[in-house]
Amino acid sequence: MSKVKLKKYGLKDIIYFTNKPKEREKRIQDTVPSRSGAKFKCNEKAAERHPDEQLFVIDGITDRGKGVKTYRLKKKDGTDPAFFRAGQYVVIRQEIDGKLIARPVSISSGPAETLDGYIDVTVKEVENGFLSKYIIENWKEGDEVKTSGPQGLFYYEFFRDEKHVIACSGGSGITPILSMAKAIASGDEDFRLTVLYGSRTKKDILFAEEFDEVMKATDKVKLVNVLSDSRAKGCEHGFITADLIKKYAGDDAFSLFASGPQAMYEFLDAEAEKLGLDLKHYRKEIFGSIKEPWTLPGYPAEAKDKVFSLRVMMCGDEYDIPCNANENMLVALERAGIAGPNRCRGGICGWCRSRLVEGDVFIPELTDGRRGADKEYGYIHPCATFALSDAVIEMPNRK
Ligand code: FES
Repeated sequence: MSKVKLKKYGLKDIIYFTNKPKEREKRIQDTVPSRSGAKFKCNEKAAERHPDEQLFVIDGITDRGKGVKTYRLKKKDGTDPAFFRAGQYVVIRQEIDGKLIARPVSISSGPAETLDGYIDVTVKEVENGFLSKYIIENWKEGDEVKTSGPQGLFYYEFFRDEKHVIACSGGSGITPILSMAKAIASGDEDFRLTVLYGSRTKKDILFAEEFDEVMKATDKVKLVNVLSDSRAKGCEHGFITADLIKKYAGDDAFSLFASGPQAMYEFLDAEAEKLGLDLKHYRKEIFGSIKEPWTLPGYPAEAKDKVFSLRVMMCGDEYDIPCNANENMLVALERAGIAGPNRCRGGICGWCRSRLVEGDVFIPELTDGRRGADKEYGYIHPCATFALSDAVIEMPNRK
């Protein structure tokens, strides 16, 4: 065994190390401010690829019926939109009656289309949905639209995912899956994708033509329509069960991607458990906030319809606002006219991560994207947290 020789430290070394922090501090204080204003190419490139904000103009609108519309967005300054990973979303930032409202919307075009100068976003009008209703009723060609840069972690990852992905989707939740299918056709992604798309009837199927085009361009994508309320030739009938998934997975190892309405996840979670998939091979895209928390396991029935008092500390200000136990804390803030930081609104991205100073809360397991340490030290994601008593939270100092 070889021995490591340790250098002996003397008084001179101790003095050197003791004085080092003071010397460093002096250098920082003596630095001429203009030097730190230097522009670096790498920073400019990073800002270009990961912009905080993009200003678009609506270049075309496709009405897909049943309150679903696709908007083609081109950058106002004529440059290409930021490239993205198929499955990501942008956050729409819209001012309505003087209030800034932000909501995530999936990109339904493929990443290669950014090089043609546009992205498509598809919006479905949600019952009681504030921004979706506004968009569907008011957006018209030529309007300016502000969005964030591409966000979200719901995309294929070569190192983590299997080469075969079974995507279970319902309603307008098909949009990120369509983007993945297009990315495979354009060669930007390389995996086999089998889409099990649940709809009530054939009339409710979205993007049928787009999928036909993709399947003409590549044999790596297969679409199977699963109709719950009717039967049709070439379609499966019923729900997306573990047996149906197994039927299309065959003997291959596969990753399961899910993207659809809340009710679909509740059903699919049980089916995924029967398949014995480990956590990293079952990925979900949560669309917006959890609704009707009282229907979820663990919600105390007596809290329903109660209104508590919520104190919010943010950016040096304090607000006391009412907080309905039926809605998450972020919505309570927005109802009070306060714009809290948010992106995914589904408990996953951590952008609204806040400290719970006081109070009891309900956090649904379905959207609990907190890290282990955050759970232990009392941090919450207000977009996926429901008050069960009067509470105090400290939000991050960002919008
Ligand atoms: S906005 Fe993403 S976790 Fe709250």
